Amino acid sequence: MNGKFITVEGIEGVGKSTNITYVQQLLEANGIDVVLTREPGGTPLGEAIRALLLDSQYTGMDPVCELQLMFAARAEHLAKVIRPALEQGRWVLCDRFTDATYAYQGGGRGIDTGIISRLEQLVQGDFRPDLTLLLDVPVEVGLARANNRSTPDRFEQEKVDFFERVRQAYLDMAREHDRRYRVIDASQPLESVQQQLTAVLQKMHS
Ligand code: TMP
Repeated sequence: MNGKFITVEGIEGVGKSTNITYVQQLLEANGIDVVLTREPGGTPLGEAIRALLLDSQYTGMDPVCELQLMFAARAEHLAKVIRPALEQGRWVLCDRFTDATYAYQGGGRGIDTGIISRLEQLVQGDFRPDLTLLLDVPVEVGLARANNRSTPDRFEQEKVDFFERVRQAYLDMAREHDRRYRVIDASQPLESVQQQLTAVLQKMHS
């Protein structure tokens, strides 16, 4: 039997790392075998592409170059990690996936979503996540949290407007794909965020 594919999305500073660890522990406590992975990255080649994508040395990278690097890493990730794990009945918990491309390269950079959708079809065919958790916070809250961390990477250097477009693109996708998406209010205290996550996941494996 195939496992389930869960993706976690959101702008910078929504608490993705903490909450992904929580989701992983929750699933494992229910006896589910979880593979935790991330995009861009998740394979040796994908992590090398990630390093290029995040390096501030490449500020001003052409958006179409950026777009294709995202999908290049994703093709490798799907072939080497995601599909094999699902075929073995394991669940895959992925920190970002193609919705991040629609949000950042589509919403943020302004690339036509029709072009993104053609690359999605090429790389994934009809493959889509079973569940997408969107951790949502207002941009000023997310950026204030993110700015407290280490040196900003190439994306973290973007301005508020960019992240407003990214957030809006995520919220639009959540409305459009409301069966697959669950929007979590991540501006709440951690305990409340975790209660929201528990409620969503209980429905999924019960
Ligand atoms: P992370 O630091 O949250 O793991 O993500 C790395 C950055 O890559 C983040 O700023 C979002 C960006 N990104 C895209 O722009 N497009 C994509 O398709 C993915 C997966 C990530």
